[in-house]
Amino acid sequence: MTTSQASVSFTTASVGKKVLMAITGICLIGFLIVHLIGNLQLFIGQEQLNKYAETLQSLGGLKWGFRLFMLVLAVIHVWKGVVLWLENRRARPIGYHREDTVQASLSSRTMIYTGLLIFAFVVYHLLHFTLIVTNPEYAQLKDSVGRVDVYSMVITGFSNYAIAIAYLIAMFLLAYHLSHASESFFQTMGWANDKYLPKLKILSNLFAIVIFIGYASMPIAVLLNIVKLPGGGN
Ligand code: HEM
Repeated sequence: MTTSQASVSFTTASVGKKVLMAITGICLIGFLIVHLIGNLQLFIGQEQLNKYAETLQSLGGLKWGFRLFMLVLAVIHVWKGVVLWLENRRARPIGYHREDTVQASLSSRTMIYTGLLIFAFVVYHLLHFTLIVTNPEYAQLKDSVGRVDVYSMVITGFSNYAIAIAYLIAMFLLAYHLSHASESFFQTMGWANDKYLPKLKILSNLFAIVIFIGYASMPIAVLLNIVKLPGGGN
């Protein structure tokens, strides 16, 4: 294989990986939007959030199928991201780094780090709220009709400053990752040209800000005592 053939096949393989990352990424973004809308019911109250959580639990097999699908998407996204990052590092000629640094934004250069930190956050989050491993005392929380009290669980969780701040940092990293990810999605799919790119960049940043405000509003509302435990305590 000649050098130019090798570089063409490397580029094609990279584009293939990027398309897979873009498609899995957009599905994960879809989950983030639905999850945010679901969780914002915290502001409506205990009855609403617990009813919603109970409805999700009652989906049984469908819920497990969806969880498995999301897990596969997340693993592909992270795996391909790491492989692409390693390949780019290996392919980068000496002296290229400084030029590249001038052109690429900080958010694009730190995608691998923000991505891996978000992955670590999701593992913690699952142990915290879904599997209730880090705080087993949440398992006792039941509402007046005997349902799992997700409302009190979230408020109790965020009443702990360390947990609330850890979530806020994770939400910031997520937003930072998304600010470049959405823009990158349009570029990978070939839907961004010189005319639309600046507008897409603004749109990606706005989307990241909305996601940050939406998710951060919950720990902040608990810390500021805007949403409280049913008895009025915190
Ligand atoms: C303030 C922010 C958040 C709150 C209050 C929150 C709340 C919750 C709760 C209560 C559950 C458990 C649902 C249940 O088992 O009934 C859950 C599950 C989950 N959350 Fe979050 N979440 C937040 C942010 C995030 C973020 C940023 C991500 C992704 C980056 C995420 C990903 C997940 C996943 C993957 C699950 C498991 C879903 C499942 O069990 O099917 N969450 N979340």
